Amino acid sequence: MPLDIIVGAQWGDEGKGRIVDLMSARAEVVARYNGGDNAGHTVTVGQQTFKLHLIPSGIIHPHTIGVIGNGVVVNPQTLLAEMEMLRSHGVRVDDNRLRISHAAHLITPAHLALDKALEKQRGKGSIGTTGRGIGPAYTDKASRTGLRIEDLLDKSNLGEKVIAHVHKVNQLLSGIYGAETLDPYPIAAQYLEYARILSPYVADISLLIYETLRRGSRVLAEGAQGTLLDLDHGTYPFVTSSSSTASGALVGLGIGPGQVDRVIGVVKAFQTRVGAGPFPTELEGDLALRLRGTGSQPWDEYGTTTGRPRRVGWLDLVLLRYAVRVNGLSQLVVTKVDVLSGVPALKLCVAYRMQGKVYSDLPMGVADLSPFEPLYEELPGWEEDVCSARSWNQLPGAAQLYIRRISEVAGVPVRSVSVGPERDQALEV
Ligand code: GDP
Ligand code: IMO
Ligand code: MG
Repeated sequence: MPLDIIVGAQWGDEGKGRIVDLMSARAEVVARYNGGDNAGHTVTVGQQTFKLHLIPSGIIHPHTIGVIGNGVVVNPQTLLAEMEMLRSHGVRVDDNRLRISHAAHLITPAHLALDKALEKQRGKGSIGTTGRGIGPAYTDKASRTGLRIEDLLDKSNLGEKVIAHVHKVNQLLSGIYGAETLDPYPIAAQYLEYARILSPYVADISLLIYETLRRGSRVLAEGAQGTLLDLDHGTYPFVTSSSSTASGALVGLGIGPGQVDRVIGVVKAFQTRVGAGPFPTELEGDLALRLRGTGSQPWDEYGTTTGRPRRVGWLDLVLLRYAVRVNGLSQLVVTKVDVLSGVPALKLCVAYRMQGKVYSDLPMGVADLSPFEPLYEELPGWEEDVCSARSWNQLPGAAQLYIRRISEVAGVPVRSVSVGPERDQALEV
């Protein structure tokens, strides 16, 4: 049965949204399986640029059904703003086209307040979260005290549940973190209003996906964040609080492994990271500026959600091999190859060294990357602008060599290359 999982192979912002948009041309259902509005997926279609945080990027194609899975944490305020944004761009968003899992969890202003208080308390050791309440919402989920989308359907109890939740968080805010408390009553009223608007969208999305697959139609599972931000498999504790790896798609959508066709890893041609945590191949100075851009281009490396400048560095193939392993990637899509044009010499990190020993695979996961020294292979750069390349043969030899080397070291084929943000700026390998 044709289920494709699209997963970020690095620290997020690999261009997943743009690849999902491309692949949605041939899918019936496109489903987000993890994270919340910490994600920022930018899709460019001609003159229009969509910045999506919760709704899967596939919704832009008029024939698809967009699904928000049970693995997602939903801030209704962001969701409603996004629905309006899409409508203002002429995208139809109604309860035939957008379905939200009854078992997804709700984010409230109390979660946002707690996220900020926790970061403040961490001080120098702060994670650099997006401040969207993601960690506290998943904490409530794991503590079995969370509010779920299905609570919106039970309007007689919703108000009381929201008030009890805000009271509980207030105790933490004032008692432990010395932070301002929140008035629960307007929040409860707001959530009753959200319930009125969102109730028609609630569905058993596991059943919807199962039936779509049984008919032989294609389903895309859209990951948020990336492998190295996964709660279990990422650079803990500098991670997000959900399962962003491919297995998260199964739990986060309520489907089994037998349904999976391809697991597609999206990897940027260089490495970026927003927020704190180790980054062995990080660059500073002129070269970093060159890769990050100044912010004059829409694709320059500044966070879609928070606007923070992204940290940049050479592509780390040790971490990519790890991503291939923990996700079971069957193939790669390499994005932003155009950004490397004009960089005189390129480096690929092919191994790490620690205490005289060389590692091409990490001996003990990725949590502590600080003792490792990256070992590089240097490859020639290319001067040509590749934005208009539409076939493999139109890429300069040096770009072909760079991409082939990524595939060799990662151990899986590169099936597609992206050379710009527009729909036609991609080529099959
Ligand atoms: P996501 O979070 O993985 O969906 O990625 P983001 O949307 O946060 O960041 C990727 C950015 O790069 C977006 O602005 C995309 O439009 C842009 N982008 C994607 N692929 C390419 C590409 O091949 N070349 C260029 N120049 N920009 C790209
Ligand atoms: P997309 O889907 C890049 C990072 C934050 C922070 C850490 C934890 O656009 O690739 P959180 O708010 O989740 O508790 O923050 O995770 N982070 C992302 N970095 N892209 C994202 O999403 C991210 N979502 C969270 O910067 O370091
Ligand atoms: Mg992003």
